[in-house]
Amino acid sequence: MLLGFYGLANLSAVLLLASLTGTHAECPLELNPQRVVVRYGSNVSVDCSTNITHKGIGWEASEGPVPTNRDQNLITWRVLNLRQWDIEPMCYINYDRTQCERNLPITIYKTPESVSINTADRTGPMNEFSTYKLQCDVVNVAPVQNLTVKWYKGETLMHKETFTDPIKTPVNTTPILQITADRSDDGVQYRCEAELELGAEGPQPPPAVTSEPLQLTVHYPPLHKLFNDNISTSGGEVSLNCTTAANPAATYTWYSEHLKETRSSSVLSSSTLSPGNYTCTAKNLLGMSTKMFTVRRTGGRGTFWAILLSGLGALVILIVSYTIYKCKTVSRSYVI
Ligand SMILES: *[C@@H]1O[C@H](CO)[C@@H](O)[C@H](O)[C@H]1NC(C)=O
Ligand SMILES: *[C@@H]1O[C@H](CO)[C@@H](O)[C@H](O)[C@H]1NC(C)=O
Ligand SMILES: *[C@@H]1O[C@H](CO)[C@@H](O)[C@H](O)[C@H]1NC(C)=O
Ligand SMILES: *[C@@H]1O[C@H](CO)[C@@H](O)[C@H](O)[C@H]1NC(C)=O
Ligand SMILES: *[C@@H]1O[C@H](CO)[C@@H](O)[C@H](O)[C@H]1NC(C)=O
Ligand SMILES: *[C@@H]1O[C@H](CO)[C@@H](O)[C@H](O)[C@H]1NC(C)=O
Repeated sequence: MLLGFYGLANLSAVLLLASLTGTHAECPLELNPQRVVVRYGSNVSVDCSTNITHKGIGWEASEGPVPTNRDQNLITWRVLNLRQWDIEPMCYINYDRTQCERNLPITIYKTPESVSINTADRTGPMNEFSTYKLQCDVVNVAPVQNLTVKWYKGETLMHKETFTDPIKTPVNTTPILQITADRSDDGVQYRCEAELELGAEGPQPPPAVTSEPLQLTVHYPPLHKLFNDNISTSGGEVSLNCTTAANPAATYTWYSEHLKETRSSSVLSSSTLSPGNYTCTAKNLLGMSTKMFTVRRTGGRGTFWAILLSGLGALVILIVSYTIYKCKTVSRSYVI
């Protein structure tokens, strides 16, 4: 009996709490869609509906407001050409001597007018190992908070940049990528891409604008991979290849006590090179690299092995023929 009374009291307390928090926190309005992502200048429409009996329902907005309506349970906020960056549409309802409202989360976006990449007011070729700034000019984009700028070297994604400024109106932004010029950058195209990531309600795939490519020119000195090379010759044509990449192209000079005149080609081809050392220097305005070739004559040894091998061959033939002759003699003796 006592227990039942307490149980009832508890239950009514719970009901009271529910009516206090429940009805006041939950405004009996439903928005459809619940949030919108709209391109600046395009149309939009959102329904606001209720299931309760009320004394008026309406939309408040700086564009396309819907005046308080007592007869309907569904009203639509509609704008044909949305041009208010800071619009905050809100649906409200009057009932039971109270008013409550629901704000419509809205994102108004604008894809960039232009996206271009440049070397931040610097012109001319870059030098290897120096650092440079690449700048991406993104013009007139909103909202910058949902912008991602991606940097590509060829097809490789190098870096991504995002922004935190909560401003809703269009802005210009110029993110910068710092690079240390490398010989692998010479002739390579860099580009930047501005993408608006607007979530599930936004356009799919996310709208993106890509810059024209920027081709880099990097000056770098010659550098041989191997600093010395051994060339064997048995008297035929040998070719000493000193070619190495450089920008601007390297000039070559050869030195050897065996060379009578100077040579300026990158490859030295000849059938009359004497054994010995040949040194080649590749050089441009940024530096030089030297490579040494050691030419060895292998003719003497080759002849030795040739004589030894033909001697052995003759011996083998002799043994085989003798064995065959022997076998034939034995067979004949059986027949008899
Ligand atoms: C916007 O207008 C286009 C045609 O102009 C129409 O097809 C589309 O349904 C409209 N969208 C909304 C949300 O009213
Ligand atoms: C109104 O009732 C319908 C059907 O029961 C339901 O789907 C809808 O969500 C309700 N709307 C509100 C605003 O409670
Ligand atoms: C836009 O960016 C903000 C901040 O990064 C994020 O909270 C929001 O979800 C984004 N909007 C959409 C529609 O994805
Ligand atoms: C060439 O021969 C020299 C001396 O025998 C040796 O030190 C060097 O490593 C060799 N170079 C190559 C590329 O084989
Ligand atoms: C010399 O080497 C370069 C690169 O290492 C190569 O492109 C070129 O064809 C070579 N030249 C000759 C004559 O072997
Ligand atoms: C070639 O150069 C190597 C290493 O510098 C040296 O040991 C050798 O004596 C030279 N050979 C000739 C024929 O000068």
